[in-house]
Amino acid sequence: MEGSTIILDGKALSENIRQKIKEEIQSYIAKGLRQPCLAVVLVGDDPPSVVYVRNKRKACENVGIKSLLYHLPYNTNLSELLELIAELNAKEDVDGILVQLPLPKHIPMEDVILAISPKKDVDGFHPENMGRLLGRLEGGFIPCTPLGIDLLLKHYQIDLKGKDVVIVGAGFIVGRPLSALMLWRDATVSVCHIHTKDIKKYTLEADILISATGVPHLIKEDMVKEGAVVVDVGISKVGDKILGDVDFEAVKNKAYAITPVPGGVGPMTVSALLLNTLQAYRRNLGKEHQP
Ligand code: GUN
Repeated sequence: MEGSTIILDGKALSENIRQKIKEEIQSYIAKGLRQPCLAVVLVGDDPPSVVYVRNKRKACENVGIKSLLYHLPYNTNLSELLELIAELNAKEDVDGILVQLPLPKHIPMEDVILAISPKKDVDGFHPENMGRLLGRLEGGFIPCTPLGIDLLLKHYQIDLKGKDVVIVGAGFIVGRPLSALMLWRDATVSVCHIHTKDIKKYTLEADILISATGVPHLIKEDMVKEGAVVVDVGISKVGDKILGDVDFEAVKNKAYAITPVPGGVGPMTVSALLLNTLQAYRRNLGKEHQP
């Protein structure tokens, strides 16, 4: 397999997607419509969150989505945050609302997610949107990382029907919604987590192995089946290096296809956010144009 492994280039695909988004927005502007608008809420100064928010806002501006930043101090309380969300829910010209996670420990995430209007929940975290995903109902939003992975696999024509998809990591942001989406695609889905007795037993069976744990180089060569597709969602800063969940150099020779870190899933997540925001805008405009 050496030398012939397909690198699933999320950066290149993202550039294509973003160009199309940009053109669509330009066509709306040419018709005299307003820009789409995403409100981004950041509470505190968690260093990775500061970087993610900066990247998301920059990506918005590059395609013509207006981004409003609400950077609140760490000691903001729940009711202050809920007040801001209520304001943003009521604003006609705010299409999407993103509250960057993790929140400070004193703010319960569930209350915040429940407060965001499902129609503006471009993260897809509100139970209405999670429920639509499980129930395969149109009209919701699919969380950005699962959607980005799905688009990347589709672009490279990686068929999921009847395949064994193994997801390592059962988190709320990636593993759980991704498992629902992979079921949509007719895959046989296993989700491993911290209590799984023998992770390797599962990963070795995977036709498509997706790791979303944030544990650098958790996935070693001896855990991967020859010819598997390997998708790495992890981004960990170790010293001055960015490492994924997968030991890329060792695993790449065994894989049929693999995502790099950086340049794989990360840019696809941001592109999915832009797509969800554009979708929220389209729906909002539809509403605005009704008599
Ligand atoms: N923190 C890590 N990933 C995400 C994400 O996709 N959305 C939000 N809001 N916060 C995150």
